[in-house]
Amino acid sequence: MDRRPATGRLAAGCDLSGRKRPPNCKVAMADNYRRAVSCSDLPERGTAAVEIDAVNVIICRDESGVFALENRCTHQESPLQGGRIRRGAIMCPMHGAPFALKTGACLSQLAYAPIRTFAVKVEDDWVFVDLTSPAVDAG
Ligand code: FES
Repeated sequence: MDRRPATGRLAAGCDLSGRKRPPNCKVAMADNYRRAVSCSDLPERGTAAVEIDAVNVIICRDESGVFALENRCTHQESPLQGGRIRRGAIMCPMHGAPFALKTGACLSQLAYAPIRTFAVKVEDDWVFVDLTSPAVDAG
């Protein structure tokens, strides 16, 4: 799988791979979204860790949607990859602190600071992440 983020400017009328796209294609061209992971590489209830512009991001999916958070626990900075997804939260695999997927808020007293969240969109079987915008539900 190609985990490299899409970079550079694309010619009008091309998709992110540089192929010509149909006129009704909804791939946004003038925004900050970066291609993160193919939906086929993201388990139905699971995670995928990616690096986008030197930021470690964890893409999470559960029955309510797809979310992107910084891949670093605010307790002792352990990566969250490998953490279980449960009840709208990801559990840090190190000590078990749960963080809300939608807001990044820590749901226990193990850690107090929330995790950064990022805006996500899914198009053409790809998850795109905008590092410049928090998730819509983030506080
Ligand atoms: S490092 Fe995540 S809960 Fe301790």
